[in-house]
Amino acid sequence: MTLLQGQAAIVTGAGGGIGRGHCLHLAQAGAAVVVNDIDLAAAAAVVAEIQAAGGRAVACGLSIAARDSAFELIATCVEAFGTVDILVNNAGNLRDRSFLRMSDDEFDAVWLVHVKGTFWCSQAAALRMRDSGRGGVIINTASGAHFGNVGQTNYSAAKGAIASMTYTWALELARYGIRVNAICPLGSTQMTATLNTGSAKQSLVSAAAAKYVDPTLNGPLVVFLCSAKAQGVSGQIFGSGAERIAHLVQPHYGKTLVRPGGWTVEAIGQYFSALEGEFGALGMLGQPYPFRGGVTAPMLEPEATPPKG
Ligand SMILES: NC(=O)c1ccc[n+]([C@@H]2O[C@H](COP(=O)([O-])OP(=O)(O)OC[C@H]3O[C@@H](n4cnc5c(N)ncnc54)[C@H](O)[C@@H]3O)[C@@H](O)[C@H]2O)c1
Repeated sequence: MTLLQGQAAIVTGAGGGIGRGHCLHLAQAGAAVVVNDIDLAAAAAVVAEIQAAGGRAVACGLSIAARDSAFELIATCVEAFGTVDILVNNAGNLRDRSFLRMSDDEFDAVWLVHVKGTFWCSQAAALRMRDSGRGGVIINTASGAHFGNVGQTNYSAAKGAIASMTYTWALELARYGIRVNAICPLGSTQMTATLNTGSAKQSLVSAAAAKYVDPTLNGPLVVFLCSAKAQGVSGQIFGSGAERIAHLVQPHYGKTLVRPGGWTVEAIGQYFSALEGEFGALGMLGQPYPFRGGVTAPMLEPEATPPKG
């Protein structure tokens, strides 16, 4: 397949897992690929795989977690292949901890790699794409975790930020011929291996941790989104992996109440039930709205109330 013949691509965090799959598919589609990972040996192994299959690739061990090295990564692609047409922001890390125990270090470590890394790499690539006049494609990596997920304050916040950056960049960069989309991938990787599989029946990602899901199966959607076949696709997020492709509906204002002159607390109380009916599934596990019975402090729960008399 030569869908991406003559294109130069960068995939961050691609020494294994989902990023490796993206690289193999991009190279198979004809793109020359910069395989980036702080684990340089792993990135070099992916390059060897691509070259053995007749593709073009170079390894790059720079960290995306600093502005200078992120910009250097993009420059590496231009040096190696003369241009940069595709950037797939895939690198990631986890520091799971319940919200009340999470430290600044745990929050910052995840924010740095996912949000700042995506911001820096994309800015560097988009500047090159704009200046070249050729346009380009950016694919970000979000996650269903941004709907909310227990134990992942840092990760869900980072993925939510990436989703929002995807929408904003699609709006800002279209004038330069740059399309920006994101995937919420799925696959059994070293990242899912660290997850607690206790809720495996409820969560797609936990299922990937409990039962093998080939992480390379996200690659075909990435190739499609990078190709001219997706010329009219920007600002969209897709669930990918295993056998699914799901379109993620952009958050938007739903049922809206309007009161001439504005609202009083009393009037809100009178009409609020019209909004309560709209409360849908909450969190990545998609559980039905769990708080209809109220959210009460333990000391107020009936079983915690001391018996009278
Ligand atoms: N596996 C899943 O089911 C799943 C689900 C949702 C989202 N994701 C996302 O998919 C992406 C890939 O995850 P994965 O499951 O393949 O995990 P993975 O751990 O196999 O891959 C992540 C890679 O990023 C690299 N990396 C970390 N920090 C880096 C840095 N500063 N610079 C460069 N590389 C760095 C790591 O060395 C690693 O090889 C991540 O963004 C993750 O959040 C994965």
